[in-house]
Amino acid sequence: MAKWLDNAVFYEIYPQSFKDTDADGIGNINGITEKLDYIRELGCNAIWINPCFKSPFGDAGYDVEDYLTVAPRYGTNKDLTNLFAEAHKRNMHVILDLVPGHTSVKHEWFKQSMKPGKNEYTDRYVWTDCIWVEPEGMSCIRGISDRDGCCAVNFFSHQPALNYGFYKPDKPWQQPMDSEGAIATREAMKDVMRFWLSRGCDGFRIDMAGSLVKNDPEGLGTISLWQNIREFLDKEFPDAAIISEWGEPDKSLRGGFHMDFLLHFGPSHYNDLFRCDKPFFSSSEGGSAAEFVARYKESRERSGGKGLICIPSGNHDMDRLSRRLSPEEMKIAFGFLLSMPGAPFIYYGDEIGMRYVENLTSVEGGYNRTGSRSPMQWDNSQNAGFSNAPCDRLYIPLDPTADRPNVQNQMSDDNSLINEVKKLIAVRMNTPQLQSNGDIEFIDLNNDTLCYIRSGEILVLINPKSKEQIIDPDHSDGGKTISEKMKVPERNSNGELEDCIYSYGCKAEIRSEVLVIPPRSCGFYRI
Ligand code: GLC
Repeated sequence: MAKWLDNAVFYEIYPQSFKDTDADGIGNINGITEKLDYIRELGCNAIWINPCFKSPFGDAGYDVEDYLTVAPRYGTNKDLTNLFAEAHKRNMHVILDLVPGHTSVKHEWFKQSMKPGKNEYTDRYVWTDCIWVEPEGMSCIRGISDRDGCCAVNFFSHQPALNYGFYKPDKPWQQPMDSEGAIATREAMKDVMRFWLSRGCDGFRIDMAGSLVKNDPEGLGTISLWQNIREFLDKEFPDAAIISEWGEPDKSLRGGFHMDFLLHFGPSHYNDLFRCDKPFFSSSEGGSAAEFVARYKESRERSGGKGLICIPSGNHDMDRLSRRLSPEEMKIAFGFLLSMPGAPFIYYGDEIGMRYVENLTSVEGGYNRTGSRSPMQWDNSQNAGFSNAPCDRLYIPLDPTADRPNVQNQMSDDNSLINEVKKLIAVRMNTPQLQSNGDIEFIDLNNDTLCYIRSGEILVLINPKSKEQIIDPDHSDGGKTISEKMKVPERNSNGELEDCIYSYGCKAEIRSEVLVIPPRSCGFYRI
């Protein structure tokens, strides 16, 4: 099922900032269609588009007003179905962003739900039964309609929480998961999925997927809710894929998600690698991947080999990779991202090392996230090729720096980040052992390196630091010695490891029987 995930490499598109074809300063669906060939040339074969539905845009579209209509500023439903068709022609898949946890206050369901008299939508959201009773542990909206109650919110205070029930209701207004209202919400969300899947969409990224059932600290209720939805998908749309914004794969994958993200929140230590004071991928001293690896192994074990753990280069909610890492460091970070199991996700612009734009005024509920959402930098023309609108009309101002990277310049530079990313994706596409499902065995060397064997056949050696690392093959990380685990690879007469399928920086070598991993290097070797 959803076999296409076996070698999927995703590209995340923030539609308002990608490509504007109608000169209004905001990107649109036809702009994405126009750039499909670019994404394909980069090597990605799947895209995730952030919410593109009708919305008052208080949270950049994560406040949906109508799940079934493309926001006019992005185009029409026809433009979107045309994008699906054009993507399929190029052997690409497209997933949309589904926000099942909350809507905008402008959604028709909420307008009906606010009415004091009973109607079909009375129980569509999480309401208390009295204006003076606030939902414990949750913020709420109150006093904006004649309905006597408070409505819980899921995120910003204009995003009322949809009702999927409470795992253990303990107040009269808390409905159980099997109540009529909770089931109706779940079924309505299936209808939304049906609507887009039957028009050519290939699946969904699910916003705040772990938040749906309330009073559910272990996630057990939410897990069973998603199992139910997965059953529906398997029956009606067996090729559709769902990926959760959850960050706890041992829960989400049990819930039937095909994939879950590691994120800047949650227990994964993902940010130890890219976005803390001393990121592992920085060449300066300090910073370790050890906690990340420990949590990763745990998650894989606990999810029992089910589903994929996906590591993104970034996303619309976190700082750009380049805020902490130099272009050279990012090349090595991509070597890691593109050699790990799971489907890699590249955030638009990370392939050229687009920068976080500092000191921007918040746009559409972006706040500090706004700096990671600036217009894509295509070329040296007006507005970096993003839009023909006057520059003061752009959705978010462009990176103002004179040396901002762009696609055109990097494509013609053999040593650019984009060309390294292209090379890495091509290696992954040609090497089944490196793809989504191949196994991984970590080799615990020291805090300055990341080493692992993919599918028992490809050894990945990563040293982002500025010192070479010398590894004694007789060292044991608890069980077998390293040489037993790695079947130390063949070497040529210079000591360099043979059968290298990818290297950045110098190749690893064996010198007087010790393995040397050169500074600032990343290599994949057949063993
Ligand atoms: C997710 C989205 C984020 C949004 C929030 C509320 O975390 O990624 O951008 O603001 O959910 O929907």
